[in-house]
Amino acid sequence: MSATDIVPFLRAWVANPLQVAAIAPSGNALAELMTRDISATTGPVLELGPGTGVFTRALVGRGVRESNLILVESGARFAGMLEVRFPESRVLRMDAARLARAHVCRRGELGAVVSGLPLLSMPPRKVMAILAGVFPYLRSDGAMYQFTYGPRCPVSRRMLDRLGLRAQRMGTALMNMPPATVYRITRRGPQPMHR
Ligand SMILES: C[S@@+](CC[C@H](N)C(=O)[O-])C[C@H]1O[C@@H](n2cnc3c(N)ncnc32)[C@H](O)[C@@H]1O
Repeated sequence: MSATDIVPFLRAWVANPLQVAAIAPSGNALAELMTRDISATTGPVLELGPGTGVFTRALVGRGVRESNLILVESGARFAGMLEVRFPESRVLRMDAARLARAHVCRRGELGAVVSGLPLLSMPPRKVMAILAGVFPYLRSDGAMYQFTYGPRCPVSRRMLDRLGLRAQRMGTALMNMPPATVYRITRRGPQPMHR
C-alpha cells in the first residue's frame, strides 16, 4: 500500500462510509491472494471497485495487459486516479449494479472478475444485480474473486443457489488491516483445476 493513497482513501470513506467501507486501501498480502489464480493467459479481467488500484497493480504484475483491464468504479476521485495510473485500461465510472445493461464486453469474454466491492454493506437486491450482471460476461471456466472482512462468504447460500453458483474459500490474508478472507465464486458443474 502506498502511503500517498491513504489520504484520498480516508477522505472518500469520510464522505461515504458505506460505499467505501474501509479506512485504507488493501495491503499487498490481500492483493496477492486475490490475484493468485490470474496470469497473462487469463485474458480480459473486469475489476469492480478498484479504489486506488491496489489489485489492479497486482493484476498487471501477474502479466495481465493494461489494455485487457476493465475497471468499474463509482467514486469519481478514484476513477480519475485510475485513468492516470492505468491509461491503457478502460475505466467505467458507473455503479456495478448496472453492468447487465451496460454491454461492457462480449458475453463469455472475461477470464476473471476481481471485486473489492463492499457487498456486506449493500442490500441483497443490489448484490443480486451485481452477480447476475457479471456472470454472463465470464467464460464458462471463469471465476469471480471477492474478499470480505466478515466470518463467511458475503454472498448468501440462498443467493448462490438461485444463481447456480458456488463459493470456495481460498484463504485469509492475516497481514491485511483488518484481516480479510478471499472467496472464489464459480458456476456450478465441472470446473478446471485452479493453480
Ligand atoms: C473497500 S473499497 C476497495 C478498494 C480497493 N479494491 C482496495 O481493496 O483497496 C470499495 C471500493 O468500491 C467502490 N464502490 C462501492 N460501491 C460501488 C458500486 N456500486 N459500483 C462501483 N464501485 C463501487 C468504492 O468507491 C471503493 O473504491
